[in-house]
Amino acid sequence: MVGNGGREHTLLWKLKADSPSAEFFATQPNGGMAALAEGVEIAPGDTEALAGWAAARSIDLTVVGPEAPLAAGIADRFRNKGLPVFGPSAAAARIESSKSYAKELMRGAGVPTADFRVFRELAAAQDYIREQGAPIVIKASGLAAGKGAIVCDREEEALQAVREMLEDFRFGEAGREVVVEECMRGEELSVFVLTDGREFLTLLPSQDHKRVGEGDTGPNTGGLGAYAPVSLVNPGLMQEVEERVLLPTLRALESDGSAFQGLLYAGLMLTHEGPKVVEFNCRFGDPETQAILPLLASSLLEPMATIAEGGSVSDLTARWHSGGAVTTVLASQGYPGSYEKGKPIHLPPSLADDPNLFVFQAGTRSSGDGLVTSGGRVLAVTGIGDSLADASRKSLVGADAVEFEGKYFRTDIGWREFARDEAGRP
Ligand code: AMP
Ligand code: GLY
Repeated sequence: MVGNGGREHTLLWKLKADSPSAEFFATQPNGGMAALAEGVEIAPGDTEALAGWAAARSIDLTVVGPEAPLAAGIADRFRNKGLPVFGPSAAAARIESSKSYAKELMRGAGVPTADFRVFRELAAAQDYIREQGAPIVIKASGLAAGKGAIVCDREEEALQAVREMLEDFRFGEAGREVVVEECMRGEELSVFVLTDGREFLTLLPSQDHKRVGEGDTGPNTGGLGAYAPVSLVNPGLMQEVEERVLLPTLRALESDGSAFQGLLYAGLMLTHEGPKVVEFNCRFGDPETQAILPLLASSLLEPMATIAEGGSVSDLTARWHSGGAVTTVLASQGYPGSYEKGKPIHLPPSLADDPNLFVFQAGTRSSGDGLVTSGGRVLAVTGIGDSLADASRKSLVGADAVEFEGKYFRTDIGWREFARDEAGRP
């Protein structure tokens, strides 16, 4: 397992459940992963060293969690050595690592997404923003750790955002090219598919909570909670997403010579004109993975290994437990701004005994005296239950029980769903 965040802990947990007798290794594992896998002291970004290590050990399957090593070509390196790897090539990962590439691909394939233009010159970008007016969205084209998209309610903010990217290089190389796009309205939906490049297996759609504050207020974060299933989803919507978004995108990548093998993440906005793509990612979402994998009744290992070995997923299906899952992320006070690390964490043993509760670690590490915090998003507590309300209660019981100094979490994960139920809407 390459990567050491909450997503990777969850993937590792599921793969281990699928194949308890297999031997697992993880790059610089966090406190939770260290209990499930032997640590490999190579950084997730050191793709050359990892390929060499995996070749020496004849590793049967390597799963790459984060986008950065994929964009840096880790999957290409592994495939060149004949090592099975789950994750797209660097060329296919451009669907995430270059927003301008993703937008042009969608435009060419007729995939619904926000109208946009790409700029490298400040004056031209500013003229276009003045012409379009606010609200408007400014995005650094390259990888910016989820911080490169700025939704601007006022024209002045947008003018400043492009100035910061194209003149002050606030996002470094990632912001030398800027996408200016139409602001869409609607609820967001995360749709993940496991794909061999042609066929795909759709996982249970989920909804992320990116803002730091209750009721989706305040600055964007990496994601402070998620839930699944989402009641806005019905077979008609999924058919539309598959036919209008996923199929044409996969075909366009294939005809570019960049067939996508791995997990394709479609971030959608459900607008009144139908689903439109906000962004694509070339890997599982974090923390959506923590919500959906505890509901997956069938194997994850089987489709991952099939894809990594160049096989077809056309005969595979995914089975899901009934009921729902709610994931609450416990963060360090101050996140997404600056925060302190090294706070001792107390995990009551009762949490591990509860079959409806899962604690997935992210920014944690084992120190001499036990587990301590080491990141902004420290861990995620997923509750499952017969209903989403049960799952939410469970998740909050777990979130309350974990202790560390400066613990912060949202208590309202899934609130749109509960508001929908009360209003009697679908
Ligand atoms: P991204 O980094 O592209 O995932 O964007 C981060 C967040 O910004 C998304 O999850 C949306 O909430 C918001 N966002 C991005 N693009 C748009 C858009 N065109 N219209 C409205 N909101 C957007
Ligand atoms: N949860 C959003 C992401 O993984 O990009």
